[in-house]
Amino acid sequence: MPFLSATLDRVKPSPTIAVSNMARELKAAGKDVIGLGAGEPDFDTPDNIKQAAKAAIDAGKTKYTAVDGIPELKEAICAKLKRDNGLEYTPAQVSVGTGGKQILYNALVATMNPGDEVIIPAPYWVSYPDMVLLAGGEPVIAEASIQTGFKLTADQLEAAITPKTKWFIFNSPSNPTGAGYTRAELKELTDVLMRHPHVWVMTDDMYEHLTYGDFEFCTPAQVEPGLYDRTLTCNGVSKAYAMTGWRIGYAAGPEKLIAAMRKIQSQSPSNPCSISQWAAVEALNGPQDFIAENNKVFQRRRDMVVEMLNAAEGISCPVPEGAFYVYPSVAGCIGKTSAGGVKIDNDETFAKALLEEKGVAVVFGAAFGLSPNFRVSYATSDEALKEACTRIQDFCATLT
Ligand SMILES: Cc1ncc(COP(=O)(O)O)c(C=O)c1O
Repeated sequence: MPFLSATLDRVKPSPTIAVSNMARELKAAGKDVIGLGAGEPDFDTPDNIKQAAKAAIDAGKTKYTAVDGIPELKEAICAKLKRDNGLEYTPAQVSVGTGGKQILYNALVATMNPGDEVIIPAPYWVSYPDMVLLAGGEPVIAEASIQTGFKLTADQLEAAITPKTKWFIFNSPSNPTGAGYTRAELKELTDVLMRHPHVWVMTDDMYEHLTYGDFEFCTPAQVEPGLYDRTLTCNGVSKAYAMTGWRIGYAAGPEKLIAAMRKIQSQSPSNPCSISQWAAVEALNGPQDFIAENNKVFQRRRDMVVEMLNAAEGISCPVPEGAFYVYPSVAGCIGKTSAGGVKIDNDETFAKALLEEKGVAVVFGAAFGLSPNFRVSYATSDEALKEACTRIQDFCATLT
């Protein structure tokens, strides 16, 4: 009898975490490495949020809480959804978990039965397919192309739907591409979903606040109120509030689903950290102006990175609407050989040779389900980005 669960054979460890670890190890060994793999803002958590956490500790708010969130945080989430998204939810329709990741996982575990399918547009956040597999469902990958700005078309969504489809996972702005759907583009998808009433929508709005220029964020239940009763709107404080380590994510949706998620959570981590929950109350209710300040920095970095990557031979980099990622294509480098003698036959060999020969760590596109590309996170200093992009240019210039 094997000791380890067969479920483990269905999943792989997170490749983005693997890249970060590899970069860290090389650095520790004395190599000059610039890591562009991190999926977290390099800004510190704002002071008012830290103060709220300290005040919570001093006030003794350090005990177990209600399983899926303190009432104050649920109220703050309802107010946020109304303020930012025009969506009406009551606290009983809200679930708070240990990060956005756990919220998505709870929802999948609470709903997957053998054979259930989940449509995931590629390029996708690395965790979606594996979470579906862990929950016992079947990921169905619908591949978007660089020609449509990495956005799924209505026809592609329609073609992916079967009688077994349970969820459509939607993520805009996207990790790994930064692509954000306009209201019109999203409406085309919601029109398809309206024709298939058995399909539920899990929208991951984690990068809602990280958008640039005049791009206007929108979420499925807002664009198509007809989907409200079968949409789980997921979000969190990790990215916009620079709170990745605090581990607070949340979702709003039909009460029956929220209750099922609560049941799962009650038998796993129980409540999310009490102190982090109080910090999240302040994040959502407190001043929001630093987000626009941070976004100015992100936008400046995005523009610099896109320009420098497009100047690299064989690389083509679209301008994304949001998040802090770009997803350039290396199609023009395939078939060439690096100065170190590595034949570049796909994005994985490109990324490996780039790390070994130039000390720049990026995540190869196959990990996100669309090749030949790689993901750059520009949530790092301007100096590091400039140096990394210069090294990428040098690397490409010496390919033969
Ligand atoms: C698209 C997307 N969803 C969810 C998450 C998870 O966020 P959290 O850190 O709150 O678990 C991430 C984090 O990288 C993400 O990129």
